[in-house]
Amino acid sequence: MKYWLVLSILFLGIVVSAQNQGEIEKQIDEIIKELTLEEKVKMCHAQSKFSSPGVERLGIPEIWMSDGPHGVRAEIEWDSWSYAGWTNDSCTAFPALTCLASTFNPDLAYKYGVAIGEEARYRKKDILLGPGVNIYRTPLNGRNFEYMGEDPYLASVMCVPYIKGVQTNGVAACVKHYALNNQEVWRGHINVKISDRALHEIYLPAYKAAVREGGVWSIMGAYNKYNGQHTSHHEVLINGILKGAWAFDGVVVTDWGSAHDTREAALNGLDIEMGTGTDGLTSSTENAYDHYYLAKPFLELLKSGEIDESVVDDKVRRILRLMYRTNIDKNRPFGRKANQLHFNVAREVAQEGIVLLKNNKSFLPLNPETTQTIAVIGENATRMMTVGGGSSELKTVHEISPLHGIQQRFTNANIIHSMGYASGPSQYGRVIPSDLDQDSLKQAAIETAKKADVVLFVGGLNKNHEQDCENGDRKSLNLPFGQDELLDEIVAVNKNVVVVLVSGNAVTMPWQAKAKAIVQAWYLGSESGYAIADVLSGDVNPSGKLPFSFPVKLEDNGAHAFDELSYPGDGTDQVYKEDILVGYRWHDTKKIKPLYAFGYGLSYTTFKINSASVNAEEFKAGDEISLSVELSNVGQMAGSEVLQVYVRDEKSSVMRPHKELKGFKKVQLAAGQTQTIELSVAVDSFAFYDENNNDWKLEKGNYQLLIGTASNNIKKTIKVAVK
Ligand code: BGC
Repeated sequence: MKYWLVLSILFLGIVVSAQNQGEIEKQIDEIIKELTLEEKVKMCHAQSKFSSPGVERLGIPEIWMSDGPHGVRAEIEWDSWSYAGWTNDSCTAFPALTCLASTFNPDLAYKYGVAIGEEARYRKKDILLGPGVNIYRTPLNGRNFEYMGEDPYLASVMCVPYIKGVQTNGVAACVKHYALNNQEVWRGHINVKISDRALHEIYLPAYKAAVREGGVWSIMGAYNKYNGQHTSHHEVLINGILKGAWAFDGVVVTDWGSAHDTREAALNGLDIEMGTGTDGLTSSTENAYDHYYLAKPFLELLKSGEIDESVVDDKVRRILRLMYRTNIDKNRPFGRKANQLHFNVAREVAQEGIVLLKNNKSFLPLNPETTQTIAVIGENATRMMTVGGGSSELKTVHEISPLHGIQQRFTNANIIHSMGYASGPSQYGRVIPSDLDQDSLKQAAIETAKKADVVLFVGGLNKNHEQDCENGDRKSLNLPFGQDELLDEIVAVNKNVVVVLVSGNAVTMPWQAKAKAIVQAWYLGSESGYAIADVLSGDVNPSGKLPFSFPVKLEDNGAHAFDELSYPGDGTDQVYKEDILVGYRWHDTKKIKPLYAFGYGLSYTTFKINSASVNAEEFKAGDEISLSVELSNVGQMAGSEVLQVYVRDEKSSVMRPHKELKGFKKVQLAAGQTQTIELSVAVDSFAFYDENNNDWKLEKGNYQLLIGTASNNIKKTIKVAVK
């Protein structure tokens, strides 16, 4: 028998007999002994745009990765960013993560994770590059739509089941982008300066939950720097916090092209380097992947003894551990893709995530049997939203447009349509204006609006460069492409205007008072138009809640209340001057009324919190507080409400936000039904990050539990003491 075959069988034999973690670790040790230094180093960097090599001699497989985070991306060429042109790589596009966060429904996050994980598995991916949990600091951030909003608790609670769901398929989730990548401007080099407190209280909790509660198997570094060092090989973030304090035992992957230094990459915890500024084989005489920081330069430092072999062994151990969990786990399921079950999950998430912002005199729902004339106006009524946006762009099996969904549901109505404005094609990194005549489009839309009983304006942003897209922030909080002006004219000729906003970000709404209803519809993926029609028709009673605040104007947002050093920085550095007061923490504490508050969202029915009580008045560290809240649906329609529990520290040795979310529960009630809902809140979650001791500190004293249905709609307050 040939030597390589013997080894390959040895490897497989080892794998097959692995039973428990202890045994697996021993077997990993055995495999590491078989590997040459060259083979070990090879495993630590890319071999193509989305894969890292295995060891052919031993049958150790390659690792294949894919974006993420709301669908499995189409196949990319080996060595370039072009699409490979496969015909079997269309996916279900699930709603973007802002929508998932808006559901406030962790069970749905699990379903989402299972379904997207099945698609990744079917497509033979070992790592799915998601979820993204960067905190919504500024409404200008081009990638907010990929993330889970402004609140660390919400993002934590929602990302954990997503991760678990993905990983039931033997596919690693890869939580990203660790950490502080909260804007796209200068993302490759901006040096974020932030207090330890804000880092730990606001920006890290979701990653911590992903690791400690979600058991995530991989994590992606970010492009930016923090305190002078690139985050993908950061001594404090990775060695100190992630692998040290949180005991993360998985793999750290770079963001694509975010490694910058061999020694730091080797010593500061990076395990796999991807996408480093080369076009791979095609643009170089030699294999460019060999020139990655964790390739030949790393090998040389190992060979010379400047870096100890134990350093590469640790990386390989983590990579092999990930393989035991994924591509060499004999028991992993086979996955499945783009089937009705997945479309159903996508639709359910979309239905539950859509947020009803305004509904003057119950203007919505529209009677689905209506024979009236409905004008559907706006480019987003027909535009594909799975295209564009950057790395999360998807090639989906189908995408139901809002216009199509509305036409399918309101079959007796006379539906007329007008584009209203045009934005130009989506192009990564570049704005290409439309060459259509905007004035004619506008005039046509106004004429269309005049003829209609009801106008459904479907606009918003659109994943073009600087309109919710990677690698560029928005330039303003206003709606682009002349939509505000167009809306002004439409509301002047028609009193029955419903605005449906398709976006992953807050926008200003100068026309707000004149719209009868406003619906925040996110990027909803494959089933988009159906879900929008479900809500407009009342087939589904909206229950989504905003995962971030909508400021009236940009300066009302904490990051924008200071000079340019706060946002976007001076080109080198950036200081998070609002500190821990992100989102509603800023609005509440500074008493700046938002346009729409965090946690807010209307329903077609009315809920009433009748009473709330706790199981005791005094608690101590480690306790769980049990809350009983009696909730009634006093309206005419079944619906769901999200009970939210915020905590306020009455007296503290440090500044505390006015209130902070510490618990929530989504509850479904029939019309007229009353139910007592049990919620629990961990006393330890009252702690703040104490910079003097570099640790969390729970102060004794009085706290208030604020119970409501939005951050600005608190109905009951209960005092408790921590002794
Ligand atoms: C993005 C990541 C993405 C990677 C691979 C990077 O530019 O920041 O989120 O996973 O590309 O496409």
